[in-house]
Amino acid sequence: MTERRILRAVAMPKASSTIFGEVRWLAEIDSTNRYLLDEARAGAAAGLVVVADHQTAGRGRLGRSWVAPPGASLLVSLLLRPTIPVDRRHVLVMTAGLAMAEAVEAETGVIAGLKWPNDLLVGDRKLAGILAEAAGDALVVGIGVNIEWHEVPDELRAIATACNLEGGRATTREAVLAAFLDGYSARLTDLARAREDYEARLLTLGRRVRVEQIDGVLTGVARGVDASGRLLLDHDDGTQSSVSVGDVVHLRAE
Ligand code: BTN
Repeated sequence: MTERRILRAVAMPKASSTIFGEVRWLAEIDSTNRYLLDEARAGAAAGLVVVADHQTAGRGRLGRSWVAPPGASLLVSLLLRPTIPVDRRHVLVMTAGLAMAEAVEAETGVIAGLKWPNDLLVGDRKLAGILAEAAGDALVVGIGVNIEWHEVPDELRAIATACNLEGGRATTREAVLAAFLDGYSARLTDLARAREDYEARLLTLGRRVRVEQIDGVLTGVARGVDASGRLLLDHDDGTQSSVSVGDVVHLRAE
């Protein structure tokens, strides 16, 4: 895959004190995560940020694709080289979800809740999703946030939303990005606090859920998230389990 021309270098006035340095804004790329994973393997430093107006092969969780109309979503990937143990890295990804919910709220007034592990929801509809991918010691955190959608693809109508569709104040992708980079940098300095605040925004908490995994399905009531970001479940038979990977469906109370 050839790399595309860098469309613009983005000035980030509010983000001047963040750990994030260069922002590369591309007109089109297959996937900002793919691009940044390749940059990471080639030795790029932590803090590199890549944004695209459009992705031709956006990646979602669990092998799914991520589709957004061109120019309508903030499609961003961040390069981290974390020093915390690998089994705790998920907290960094949860913290990104929390920081994005806070940035969206600050910039648009739209209040999004979190669905474990990293979806931002308004009602039952998805406003943003996060896909983290690793390459050696590098962790690429990719986020897609629906900012201003005027045409909702038919297949997404029932499951996706955007800030403008939720009555949010008009904003730009640049403004949301700047607020996010600022907030995420600050949040990364206190991960214990971030975990608490993540739980406070977690719509999954206390809900009866179905967790779909590659090798089966679990049901139970979500009781919290541990220090590694695993979802803690109480099962009907009185047993408990913790889940590190899976797709959560919020079930209606019986
Ligand atoms: C999900 O399935 O909820 C995760 C979606 C993640 C999409 C973002 S858009 C920017 C980055 N580049 C990708 O290819 N995927 C992530």
